[in-house]
Amino acid sequence: MSEVSFKTSRALAEYPKEAKLKTGQKIVVRPLVKEDNDALLAFFRALPREDREKLKDDVTKPEVISHWTDNIDYESVIAILAFCDDKIIGDATLHRTTFGWSTHVGEIRIVTSQEFRAQGLGRLLLRELFFIALVLQLDKLIAQMPEEQAAARKVFRTLGFEQEAVLKNQIKDLEGRPHNLVIMSQEVIAFWKKIQDSIADTLADHSGS
Ligand SMILES: CC(C)(COP(=O)(O)OP(=O)(O)OC[C@H]1O[C@@H](n2cnc3c(N)ncnc32)[C@H](O)[C@@H]1OP(=O)(O)O)[C@@H](O)C(=O)NCCC(=O)NCCS
Repeated sequence: MSEVSFKTSRALAEYPKEAKLKTGQKIVVRPLVKEDNDALLAFFRALPREDREKLKDDVTKPEVISHWTDNIDYESVIAILAFCDDKIIGDATLHRTTFGWSTHVGEIRIVTSQEFRAQGLGRLLLRELFFIALVLQLDKLIAQMPEEQAAARKVFRTLGFEQEAVLKNQIKDLEGRPHNLVIMSQEVIAFWKKIQDSIADTLADHSGS
């Protein structure tokens, strides 16, 4: 594993963390390590084809997964995994560039196991990456998704992401049908300030002032 900056090690200092899904199911979230290779391959292979086609790599190939687990570099990609009884049930990644004009921007990708969908896992993983982005002092987060991915749009909207662009016929599914690609984005500090203001308002209401 390559060297980790002070900011990145601060962002990851609190892991592993325990959390609960809406069902009460206890899970653990923590960053990817090399030893997760086999479990990660099993997680991706278990995804239905329609989910896998939305990903940027062929995650059924062992060499694709081992390329990631052999070359972990948290300065470029932070992968946070969700575990239920040692089985991976979700993978959320924050991608950064270390050089050039977009080092202030992070891209988020999230995928969860079908059997754990609509239980709050996607939002939970997005929240983790949002707080990591805050500690890393990123200015802006983006996420890309097919226009018809309503669940993804809902998850990202709840964390303050708004639609920024639609790229027409930008992606094709495995049958070769074109789809529009939506880019959603969030201004990290502005969103954090909004949360803090709303907490301050709630506290003021309760104190009667
Ligand atoms: C997007 C994704 C990560 C969401 O994961 P999840 O674990 O189901 O997320 P959550 O449970 O936190 O929230 C999903 C929300 O979408 C809702 N939802 C599910 N299917 C939906 C649909 N077809 N239309 C509208 N809303 C839908 C759920 O009810 C839930 O909302 P609620 O909590 O208000 O009831 C998951 O669907 C996935 O892995 N998709 C494939 C990969 C992908 O498209 N990733 C996003 C781009 S990076």
